[in-house]
Amino acid sequence: MKSVEIREAFLRFFEEQGHTRVASSSLIPNNDPTLLFTNAGMNQFKDCFLGNEKRAYTCATSSQKCVRAGGKNSDLENVGYTAHHHTFFEMLGNFSFGDYFKKDAITFVWYFLVSVLKLSKEKLWVTIYATDYETYNIWTKDIGMPVERIIRIGDNKGAPYASDNFWTMGDTGPCGPCTEIFYDHGAEIWGGLPGSPEENGNRYIEIWNSVFIQFNRTADGVLHRLLAPSIDTGMGLERISAVMQQVHSNYEIDLFVNLLSASAEAIGCANDNQCSLKVVSDHIRSCSFLIADGVLPSNEDRGYVLRRIIRRACRHGYKLGATGSFFYKIVAQLVTEMGCAFPELKQQQTNIEHVLKTEEEQFTQTLEHGLKILERDLTELKGTVIPGNIAFKLYDTYGFPVDLTVDIARERELTVDTAGFMREMDAQRMRARSASSFSRDHNTLFKVDAPTKFTGYMATSGLAKIISIYKDGTSVDVLRAGEKAVVVLDQTPFYAESGGQVGDCGFLSSNSSRFEVCNTTKTSSTFLHHGVLVLGNLPVGASVNAHVDADVRHAIAVNHSATHLLHAALRQVLGKHVQQKGSLVDNQHLRFDFSHLEALKLDQIQALENIINAKIRKNTPVKTEETDIETAKKKGAITLFDEQFGDKVRVLSIGDGFSVELCCGLHAKFTGDIGLLKIISEGGVACGVRRIEAITGAAALAHLDAAAEQLNKVTSLVKSSRNHLINKLSAMLERNRALEKQLDYLQAKVASAASNDLLAQALDVKGVKVLAVRLDGQDRKVLLALVNQLKYKLSRAVIMLGGVHENKVSLVSGVTKDLAGQLKANELMKQVATLVGGRGGGRSDIARGSGLDASRLDAALNLTIPFVEAGI
Ligand code: ALA
Repeated sequence: MKSVEIREAFLRFFEEQGHTRVASSSLIPNNDPTLLFTNAGMNQFKDCFLGNEKRAYTCATSSQKCVRAGGKNSDLENVGYTAHHHTFFEMLGNFSFGDYFKKDAITFVWYFLVSVLKLSKEKLWVTIYATDYETYNIWTKDIGMPVERIIRIGDNKGAPYASDNFWTMGDTGPCGPCTEIFYDHGAEIWGGLPGSPEENGNRYIEIWNSVFIQFNRTADGVLHRLLAPSIDTGMGLERISAVMQQVHSNYEIDLFVNLLSASAEAIGCANDNQCSLKVVSDHIRSCSFLIADGVLPSNEDRGYVLRRIIRRACRHGYKLGATGSFFYKIVAQLVTEMGCAFPELKQQQTNIEHVLKTEEEQFTQTLEHGLKILERDLTELKGTVIPGNIAFKLYDTYGFPVDLTVDIARERELTVDTAGFMREMDAQRMRARSASSFSRDHNTLFKVDAPTKFTGYMATSGLAKIISIYKDGTSVDVLRAGEKAVVVLDQTPFYAESGGQVGDCGFLSSNSSRFEVCNTTKTSSTFLHHGVLVLGNLPVGASVNAHVDADVRHAIAVNHSATHLLHAALRQVLGKHVQQKGSLVDNQHLRFDFSHLEALKLDQIQALENIINAKIRKNTPVKTEETDIETAKKKGAITLFDEQFGDKVRVLSIGDGFSVELCCGLHAKFTGDIGLLKIISEGGVACGVRRIEAITGAAALAHLDAAAEQLNKVTSLVKSSRNHLINKLSAMLERNRALEKQLDYLQAKVASAASNDLLAQALDVKGVKVLAVRLDGQDRKVLLALVNQLKYKLSRAVIMLGGVHENKVSLVSGVTKDLAGQLKANELMKQVATLVGGRGGGRSDIARGSGLDASRLDAALNLTIPFVEAGI
């Protein structure tokens, strides 16, 4: 069976058992900032397990793209050297959110393996958590698994619940005991049963894991029992394909065969099962998928892990003899293999290739440099352990990821003191932290958990009750005039800063009091109105009228809609790789950061404005719809990876479906409300991230008016008309250039004549002709021309000319070639220029200077003779 057929058989089987087929989520977890990359099928369902999110279904099945590199569950070091580890893999899974539990989960998979895939029962072994008797009974009594094929694994990692059979998603989150199924690849393969000393061999391979999710682990390490026990399973597509295709290594399955030969071809080496080739063909998958999901190589977080994987792949390619960039050339084959199942690869092929090629080119230089340093350090190495500080120096100074040092060490039968490396890293982090001014999130000061009802989608004012008041972070019962505070209401029309949109301002009023709101923020569900009481007293429990400043709100809302149009237009003009990296929307302007590698060209900016303004002129309604996340995704809604989704999401559709995004912000009613959009700046903010700033409506018109006004001024200055301005200016520039040429010519002529007059003034000092002359009113260009003329006409001469021009002293000194090595023009200049309170420098035959103290110019020029006397 081919991998695609296995994937389809799995998903279809679970659909038939009442599961909803759910698409793979992005490799960037969309509801979990604690997770580096999506590393299991269950990630996208984390909140369903925790009971924080309800979906239209209680059972789901998916084939999830996963990356395990960096962070928890990293397999990076092993990849290429074992038969079953990857940085990227697909995990087939079935999930129950408080629906079925252990017995059904085990029965489903047993049926799938034995009856659908028709695996021989004799080949299968089972592990369970040592104290999970319920699971033991299901295996033995309901399934009929012989007891000698069931292995109990306890807390074998030295801490409570630290066990191969107790699965945790990360340091926090859903977790529980699990049962795993192992496949026996046969006695000819080395390896032992799970729990045995040889368990890391390739004979018994875990092909399926079912986690009985029963707890939420919090940051303090405590396990909290969940209300609804759930199921999370995972079956690595590559591993089950190896079983079905009767091969013993994942690298021999259909998904890898062509990738390996494409890698060998790109590198220009033989395709004969070497580890380095496996590294390359594994890494091209994770790198391409990560880039397709919006990660770019950088020195931080996800971007740094991507950089490490790319660099590891490159180095293995170079080891096999690659010269120049090769890695990006393998993308095409990957697209052929996986582009149908994952269309994002096809859509972004050019972008992926471009990013990889750029990074490879950068790395070539780093590698050469780092390797030289490492070689030098290794010659002095005593023992077999490369100290942490060497690995750190390579990393810190030469951008040499520690994995590379570990890899190189492994090839020479050396190891790296990674603990020492980590200590150095921590020390550096501490230094960086104490150097940065650490700002505390003021929202964490407020321990309020009364959710505020938001009424602002429909209204800009309404009645509300004061729930609590905080003064200087402390709860108070009453607020007095002049006091600053944070006010919490039971309901509010004020929008709280989020999703890039700034918070609303306005006021809260009663008959006798008025609280000016200058900003609104929120904790998870409580809105905080920041401001000052300008009139009367305000007690907790009072009823107030809440008024948002409607004009400011309107300006913010139209800018927010314009931001969505800009996002969609960017994807149309630059490509689908464009992803939002941040935004700021206020009443004055909008700012949008996005992933793209190059500066935008003028015609691209023009195209963006044209597209957006055309949508604005069409004046179509901005539509909002509440739906579930799956329906939203089907409509093509763009989601941001840091957004949280409840069971309902808000879909914003602008410009007849031109832009479809999930968004909780406030928007214009019609695109025409935006009036006009003008991009006022474009620039880079970080590697691979660009920023556009734009203005809309009246501000955009004012900007254009100001530009027109300037143009009018220029037109009248050059005494032209709008229609003839360009021709007139070109003609003026042309004439200016001609005049400059003429001036140069005349100056040279004058200098030549003047130099003849000057010759007579030369004094003889110990056989050297010294000419130190003051010439006021000449700019330095003239003095320079004169010195050159004089040098040409004199032999064994030192010339020092100075003059006052436009209140500044200009100086030029020269020494003829025949005095080279004896007297230096720049040394003379230093002395002279210093005396006139200025600076100077240049070469030994010609030097320039300037100063401000004209009163000392004569005295300064007089330094020339003693300078010559001393030097000759
Ligand atoms: N989440 C479980 C795993 O990744 C199924 O193994």
